[in-house]
Amino acid sequence: MSERGSFGTKIGVILATAGSAVGLGNIWRFPYLTGQDGGAAFLLVYLVSILILGIPGMVAEFIVGRHGASNAARAYYQLGGRWWSLIGYMGAVTSMIILGFYAVVAGWCLQYLVVSLLGGIHGDPAYVAAYFKNFSSDPVKPLLWTVAFIVLTHLVVIRGVRKGIEKFSNMLMPTLFILLLIIVVASCLLPGAGKGIAFLFKPDFSKIDSNVLLDALGQSFFSLSLGTACLCTYASYFSRQTNLSQSALQIAGIDTFIAVLAGLMIFPAAFSVGVRPDSGPSLIFITLPNVFQQAFSPALGYIISVLFYALLALAALTSTISMHEIGTAMFYEELHISRKKGAIMETLVCVTIGVLCSLSCGAADISLFGKTFLECCDYLTSNILLPLGSFFTCILIGWVVPKRIVRDEFTNWGTVRGRFYAVWLFIIRFVSPVCILAVFLHQLGIL
Ligand code: PFF
Repeated sequence: MSERGSFGTKIGVILATAGSAVGLGNIWRFPYLTGQDGGAAFLLVYLVSILILGIPGMVAEFIVGRHGASNAARAYYQLGGRWWSLIGYMGAVTSMIILGFYAVVAGWCLQYLVVSLLGGIHGDPAYVAAYFKNFSSDPVKPLLWTVAFIVLTHLVVIRGVRKGIEKFSNMLMPTLFILLLIIVVASCLLPGAGKGIAFLFKPDFSKIDSNVLLDALGQSFFSLSLGTACLCTYASYFSRQTNLSQSALQIAGIDTFIAVLAGLMIFPAAFSVGVRPDSGPSLIFITLPNVFQQAFSPALGYIISVLFYALLALAALTSTISMHEIGTAMFYEELHISRKKGAIMETLVCVTIGVLCSLSCGAADISLFGKTFLECCDYLTSNILLPLGSFFTCILIGWVVPKRIVRDEFTNWGTVRGRFYAVWLFIIRFVSPVCILAVFLHQLGIL
C-alpha cells in the first residue's frame, strides 16, 4: 500500500482525468459515429446522454473511488460487500479489452504519423484506400506498433501517479488543445466548409432510431471513460478537498468541447472536397488523407497531416495511461506485489488482446458474429459492458450505500454547497438505471 500515490494539484486532477476522457473516442470514434449516424441528430442525442447519464454517473463513480481510496475491486467491496467487488473486476477486464483494441488504432496513428512526416500518402482515392487495407492487414507492422504503444504506456505508468500520470497529462493536454485549434481554423476557412458545419449542427430528427440511441449512449460512456472503473481508480487519488460534482462538470465540459472541435476539424474539410463522412472506422485513415491532399496546398497539407496524427497519438496516450492504471493498481494491491510487477502483468494481458485485435484486421481470420475480433471488442465494451458497469454503480450508490456516506462525499463533508444533491440522487436512483435499461431492452426488441 505504501506505493499508492495521489494527485498533487487541483489542475492535475482535472487534466489527468480529462486526459483519460479525451482520446481516440473524441477524435476517431465520435466523428465516424456522427458521420455514420446522421450528423447533428446524433450529436443532439449524445449531448442529452452526457448531461443526464454521463455527468451524474461520473460523480457516482468518483464517490466509489474516493471513499475506497484503493483499486476498483476493493473500493466496490468496501461500499457494497463481496458481490459488488465483481463490478470493480468487471471494470478492470473491460479496460483491458478496450486497451487491447485501442492500442491497435493508436498504433495505426503512429504509422500514419511517420508516413506523414516522410511526405505523406499521395495518390488517388483508390490508392489511399488500398494503402490502409494493405497496411492494416499486414501481419507484422501494425502488430509492432500496437505493442510499441502499450509499452510506451507502460513506461509512463511505472513512474507512478504524480511523476508519471499527472506530469505527462499536464504537458500533453494543452499541446493537444493547441494542435486541435490550428487544424479547426484551417478546416473551417476552406471554401464550402459551411456544409460541414451545417451537417454537425442542423439536426434531421428523422435520422434518430434505436441504433443511433445505443451508439450515442455507448459513445457518451466511452468518451467519459465511464463504467470501466477508470474514474473510480483516478478518484482514489483525489484528496478530500476535490469537489466531485464540479470536477465531473469540468471534465465532461472539456471532453464534449474537444469532441465538437474534432467534428469541426473533420466535417468542414470533408464537405469542402465533396467527400461524405460516413465511411465508418476508417474515416480518419482513408477519407482524411484524401481530404488533406485535396483541400490544402501541398505544404499546408503536409503540416496539417503531421499535426493531426501527432495529436491523435498524444490524445490516445493520456487515455491508455488511465486504462493501464486500472489493472496495474488492481494487480499490485490485490496480489501484494510491487507496482512494477503489477504493471508488467497488465501489459502482458493487454498485449495479448492487442495482438489478437491487430491480426483480426486482415492478417488472420479471427471473427465472431460476422465482426472482426477488434470490432467485437469495441461493440462488447462500449455498447454492453460500459453501460452495465455504470448501471450497477448507480444501483450501488443510489440504493445500497447509506445516504450519509453518499451525501458526505458529494458535499465534501458539508464544506461545499450540495445544491444539486437531491436532483443528482434522483437521477442516480431512477433516471439513469431506467434509461440504460430502456435502451438495452429496445435494442433487444423487447421494448
Ligand atoms: N475516454 C477515452 C476516449 O474517449 O478515447 C477512452 C477510454 C479511456 C475508455 C479510459 C475507457 C477508459 F477506461
